[in-house]
Amino acid sequence: MSPMKIKKTTFIIASVLLASSNTFAAKMAMPSDAPASYEAECASCHMAYPPGLLSAQSWKNVMSGLSKHFGTDASVDPKVQAEITSWLVKNATTRQKYSETAPDNRITKTTWFIRKHDEVRSDVWKRAGVKSPANCGACHIDAAKGIFSENNIKIPAK
Ligand code: HEC
Ligand code: HEC
Repeated sequence: MSPMKIKKTTFIIASVLLASSNTFAAKMAMPSDAPASYEAECASCHMAYPPGLLSAQSWKNVMSGLSKHFGTDASVDPKVQAEITSWLVKNATTRQKYSETAPDNRITKTTWFIRKHDEVRSDVWKRAGVKSPANCGACHIDAAKGIFSENNIKIPAK
């Protein structure tokens, strides 16, 4: 290979690597077409989770069990329920690796979530400033925008 060709090949490989490492974070982004009902009905007790965090089946499961939602009643009227469900399903993850049906309908119980967080010590999850693994925004400062990159993390000291 000529030096010129090697340079070009290296550049292409580097670009592909960079693109693939960014894909995961990009797919989590909050779509701009979220219905107002999503913010109104699903962001009062916790953040409005970006739909790319769960599979279509998992969202259907979450949305069909709102009257018994993690120890609380989060039910909405049928029209709103249909609107939110179809938007969540449309924007659910499409990546095989993240598409498992979430145990207990929890993002925080998926295999990928546990693997991505294996370096977080168990006592860190219990800190007052964190409270729960489901409280993404405690550590991911731009979680509401769907940005989970390691450059946007600040773990509360207590
Ligand atoms: C009345 C309060 C309330 C409302 C309203 C509510 N939730 Fe929740 N939700 C909870 C609680 C409490 C948990 C458990 C949080 C924890 O474990 O820290 C939870 C957890 C979740 C989880 C799992 C988080 C995890 O552990 O991975 C999802 C997904 C979820 N909610 C989606 C929704 C959607 C979608 C809506 C709107 C239709 C909604 N929630 C509305 C209270 C609520
Ligand atoms: C106690 C703090 C904390 C909480 C709470 C937390 N995370 Fe994380 N998260 C981390 C740390 C630390 C990493 C690892 C960063 C690294 O080194 O790549 C991480 C990694 C990730 C990654 C992988 C990022 C990448 O670029 O590979 C995703 C996606 C993610 N978290 C999503 C979530 C979601 C969604 C929630 C809430 C349901 C959440 N996290 C809650 C601390 C937290």
